[in-house]
Amino acid sequence: MDLPAVALDDFDLSDFEFWVADRAFREGAFKTLRDTPGLQFYTERVIEGFPFPPGPGYYALARHEDVWAVSRNAPLFCSGQGSNIGDLPQEMNEFFGSMINMDDPKHFRLRSIVSKGFTPKEISRVEQYVHEKAERLVDRVLDKFPERECDFVEHIAAPLPLEIVCDMMGIPEEDTSRIFGWTNVILGAADPEFGGNYEALMVSALDMFQYAQELGENRRAHPTDDITSIMMNAEVDGEQLTPQEFGSFFILLVVAGNETTRNAISHGMKALTDFPEQRELWWNDFETHTRTAVDEIVRWATPVVHFRRTATADTEIGGQELHAGDKVVMFYSSANCDERVFDDPYRFDVTRPLQPPQAGFGAGGPHFCLGANLARREISVMFDEIRRRLPDLRITGEPDYLQSNFINGIKHLPCAWS
Ligand code: HEM
Repeated sequence: MDLPAVALDDFDLSDFEFWVADRAFREGAFKTLRDTPGLQFYTERVIEGFPFPPGPGYYALARHEDVWAVSRNAPLFCSGQGSNIGDLPQEMNEFFGSMINMDDPKHFRLRSIVSKGFTPKEISRVEQYVHEKAERLVDRVLDKFPERECDFVEHIAAPLPLEIVCDMMGIPEEDTSRIFGWTNVILGAADPEFGGNYEALMVSALDMFQYAQELGENRRAHPTDDITSIMMNAEVDGEQLTPQEFGSFFILLVVAGNETTRNAISHGMKALTDFPEQRELWWNDFETHTRTAVDEIVRWATPVVHFRRTATADTEIGGQELHAGDKVVMFYSSANCDERVFDDPYRFDVTRPLQPPQAGFGAGGPHFCLGANLARREISVMFDEIRRRLPDLRITGEPDYLQSNFINGIKHLPCAWS
């Protein structure tokens, strides 16, 4: 991609229009931020329909080095005051964000309990059915679309992560479409197609919270072999999860586990269509290249565009003086295209080395994605299934992008195969 030269004055990261602008323009803007010494400060705007006043503004972190430095220094850059740009009342931070909006010791306690559902043993149990699910999904597609074309997002990328998370948590099959609807509204709050307002977001979150509390209480009383039962009955220092804590964690998990992985798969398929020689390289020697190809897909897609931290003391980052209480926003999307770190970052390369690491799952530190290994597995199994059964599947039109500054989402993506 040839990046246009974009001057600092030509864009404002707080302007929603920026996030629906042409991709090359946005990438050019982030290149300018990476190349400009210090950090740029952006004021926050009133968000239509969002009932809280704008916060004091934030500094944008665009360089890989700065994003990693902040992410790994949790005592100095905390999450407990919120991890999205806007400020919410404290109770709402934890209600919506669960552990992602907590600091130690609270974060450590909660992560220790829920990690019991993510042990290698549990994940390998889940992995066994990832393959089975992907196989059934492709069966369904072949059966349902004899004309050999469909919406890749709706029929291929979205169902797998959703079904896996629901299965893991012990959610009955008949409830998965309800869960899907709730997650769409919560993460697509800024996009009119998904409800697009704060009220709809609250209704969905409360419905899902209540659903989860009931599920948690049920599994505490009648444990099965699902991860909800493991979490609800696990103890750390003699303490168990409360149903409220489980409710909030469930919202985080279901949203985090779904929307991210499906967008990685969708962007990955688009990249494999746009770079056919990379598809050929990977598919001709699948096992050899899978580990790097999957991380390259996550770098390329960067499904989560940013997370925020707040400075707990006066400090300095990227040559910029910061004061306690200043907000810094880590733009993973920019870190993942930092030309200081990645050779020719706008080239999709399934053999790209794993070091230095890409920041799609976070940039190290205590909040690093709990589901990274599961997500990697889902992505590789999905592409393996496509490779074997729909080998010439290609994207046939332009993606319909989600309007969001937080999730790099694709809502619809036409595809065809012969
Ligand atoms: C390609 C797919 C995925 C991407 C790109 C992704 C990305 C991220 C990112 C950027 C973070 C924040 C890291 C930080 O602040 O340091 C995160 C945290 C998290 N992710 Fe993922 N994620 C993915 C899949 C999943 C899956 C499949 C699950 C679970 C089923 C999951 C569960 C979580 C949880 C629970 C956290 C919060 C961890 C904490 O606060 O301690 N993610 N993820």
